Amino acid sequence: MATFEKLLVAFFIFAVAPGIVLVDATFADSTYLTWGFQHASLQGDNLSLVLDQNSGSAAQTKIPYLFGSFESRIKLVPNNSAGTVTAYYLSSTGNKHDEIDFEFLGNSSGQPYIIHTNVYTQGNGSREQQFYPWFDPTADFHNYTIHWNPNEIVWYVDSIPIRVFRNYQSVGIAYPNQQGMSLYTSLWDADNWATRGGLVKINWSGAPFTARFNQFKARACPFNGTASINQCAAKIPTNWWTSTVFKQLGHATLRKLNWVRSNYLIYDYCKDTFRFNGQLPPECYKQQY
Ligand SMILES: *[C@@H]1O[C@H](CO)[C@@H](O)[C@H](O)[C@H]1NC(C)=O
Repeated sequence: MATFEKLLVAFFIFAVAPGIVLVDATFADSTYLTWGFQHASLQGDNLSLVLDQNSGSAAQTKIPYLFGSFESRIKLVPNNSAGTVTAYYLSSTGNKHDEIDFEFLGNSSGQPYIIHTNVYTQGNGSREQQFYPWFDPTADFHNYTIHWNPNEIVWYVDSIPIRVFRNYQSVGIAYPNQQGMSLYTSLWDADNWATRGGLVKINWSGAPFTARFNQFKARACPFNGTASINQCAAKIPTNWWTSTVFKQLGHATLRKLNWVRSNYLIYDYCKDTFRFNGQLPPECYKQQY
């Protein structure tokens, strides 16, 4: 190789190196607490978010990303968690923001949590889908993953996809691919809407409430402004999320998705014709998977 070519290769490796994310970085390496310092804790690979009558708590990643996989194991608030919401989501900042959500709506003892999902593009949300978990999410840690690539967003629970939002930008449907997003987690009082639509309030005699997180992994492309847009979407091996295997779910995975959707889906905005006056959002007429 000529010296110039070697330089070029060196430059290329250097330029894409930010895409190689430290998979073994701990929770404390990649995130920091933003709210409720007095009772939340972030140590090594463990994050505990706490809610009492004084305050909830929250953490976020130190940097924003564009595409990749964001996973954490989460053990939700046990017993009477009615009125509490634990959130795990990606969001950009500013006007016309993008957002990809997992929210866990607590319930009275023995009643099921709701796994609430949503996606905002250019500031527009109203794309809720909700599921009952097929396990007790407070008994053990379970893996919750947001997979976000140029073709689709997939929400996974213990490696089972529960929802897909595909990129239909070619037909004018906005898709989040221009703004970096940070990963946020929080636990707060949402008893004005969360449980049975706000009917069941928080029982503070059970406070403090704690949600536990561990093994956070952001295998994702660090976002450093507009220059990252092409870099993070480039079809190069370090950008594993651009590989064709991640363009669409395979048959076996689709079967799992359909199993969840036929047994545990409890609300789908794409079925809510009343809410949208008979004119559903355009992606509802497109094949999502
Ligand atoms: C709580 O339990 C009630 C009764 O089983 C159920 O209707 C509701 O969907 C559950 N979840 C929430 C978050 O309200």
